[in-house]
Amino acid sequence: MRISVVGCGYLGAVHAAAMASIGHDVVGIDVDPEKIARLGRGEPPFHEPGFDALLREQVESGRLRFTTDFAEARAADVHFLAVGTPQARDGRAADVSYVNAAVASLAPVLRPGAVVAGKSTVPVGTAARLAPAVEAAGATLVWNPEFLREGFAVQDTLEPDRLVYGINHAVDGRAPEESPEARILDEVYAPIVGRGTPRIVTDWATAELVKVSANAFLATKISFINAMAEIAEATGADVTTLADAIGMDARIGRRFLNAGVGFGGGCLPKDIRAFGARAEELGLGASVAFLKEIDAINMRRRDRVVDLVLYALGPRRHEGRVTVLGLAFKPDSDDVRDSPALDVAVRLKGLGVHVVATDPEAIENARARHPQLEYVADTQEALAGADVVVLVTEWREFRELDPAATLALASDGASTESDVPRPPVVIDGRNVLDPVAWRAAGWDYRGMGRP
Ligand code: UDX
Repeated sequence: MRISVVGCGYLGAVHAAAMASIGHDVVGIDVDPEKIARLGRGEPPFHEPGFDALLREQVESGRLRFTTDFAEARAADVHFLAVGTPQARDGRAADVSYVNAAVASLAPVLRPGAVVAGKSTVPVGTAARLAPAVEAAGATLVWNPEFLREGFAVQDTLEPDRLVYGINHAVDGRAPEESPEARILDEVYAPIVGRGTPRIVTDWATAELVKVSANAFLATKISFINAMAEIAEATGADVTTLADAIGMDARIGRRFLNAGVGFGGGCLPKDIRAFGARAEELGLGASVAFLKEIDAINMRRRDRVVDLVLYALGPRRHEGRVTVLGLAFKPDSDDVRDSPALDVAVRLKGLGVHVVATDPEAIENARARHPQLEYVADTQEALAGADVVVLVTEWREFRELDPAATLALASDGASTESDVPRPPVVIDGRNVLDPVAWRAAGWDYRGMGRP
């Protein structure tokens, strides 16, 4: 099929390359000429495992090209909307101006019979609002949310655990599954559908809500366990063991119950805020008022890490050297949007602490936002002379640090005066280090919600 993908960020660029790999003829469109030029050369504008090879392969195959010109979408049978819906500058709501602009730019090039498939995460009601502009061109609008996780974007796009199609239910006399839109999407996703991937055909509003409620649920799960971490901290309980124990109940499940510095990124934080704002617009603020609490618990975990560092440094907070391990919002990503790790580093720096920050992939993005921080690319170098080590993104190379070797590094050139803490303190903001091993090696280990 001929496909256009409007918006070539994380979602769009990966979706475009994945669709080309299925065998479709794909054009990726974005208003950013620099991004388009890079993608056209087969160079990914962000770090995502497996994406470089996929992109290069598909560009070389001739099935995938990129442009800033919407006219090149004219031949497409299906147009995917994959633009961002960031948090608005002046509040909690989602900024849908990019979605509106994408539809306005597409409308004049839509062929009758074409399908516009929205993938962006939008406030419920958006599809109904946009449909008239699409339908005026004789095309139809579906909402087809995407559930990809950064770090697993390629896999999640090509092997999703479900497909959701939201179609216009206001058209009388047809079974949703048999609608032409559903059949066209089945053709687009033929190998995925053929594999027996569950597929849910529903209305626009449900499809829009599936996405935001999935993210709200995941955020709730994380904040729930982080709230338990707060209780554990005051009572001497161990939240990791607690999570293991409750997670064995199949109704609860162990996944997304990792306590730590909390969630960040370009989705969960802004999606729960946008959901709250949309519910208030609908006069239903009370229904999801709990999401404000979820957000608050999440932000308190960052305060907790900052407090642990200040406590470790004691009265001479300006003299110790603090190494922050991690800047990305999660491992295997260079994304620093709403990153708890970067936030902790910036807050400590703002409090006059000597912070040295490192990350395998995210330094460039972090520096662009916060040039005031001291960045050291090499982990060993970043750890040299550290009085306090704070692990805030669980990259494999940090998880696998050897406590004895790290202690030797930290002791190297460290101030030996008694005014900074010795033994050095390690604050495990993701509960991924082995407390027994680190303590045995001579560290003062502090976890999150662990004794
Ligand atoms: C999320 C959703 O998972 C995905 O389905 C949706 O399409 C987009 O938003 P992503 O933002 O890539 O994906 O990250 P995710 O893996 O969900 O992690 C979000 C944050 O939660 C990260 O900061 C992560 O460190 C944190 N997290 C996750 C925890 O703190 N504890 C956990 O147990 C799991």
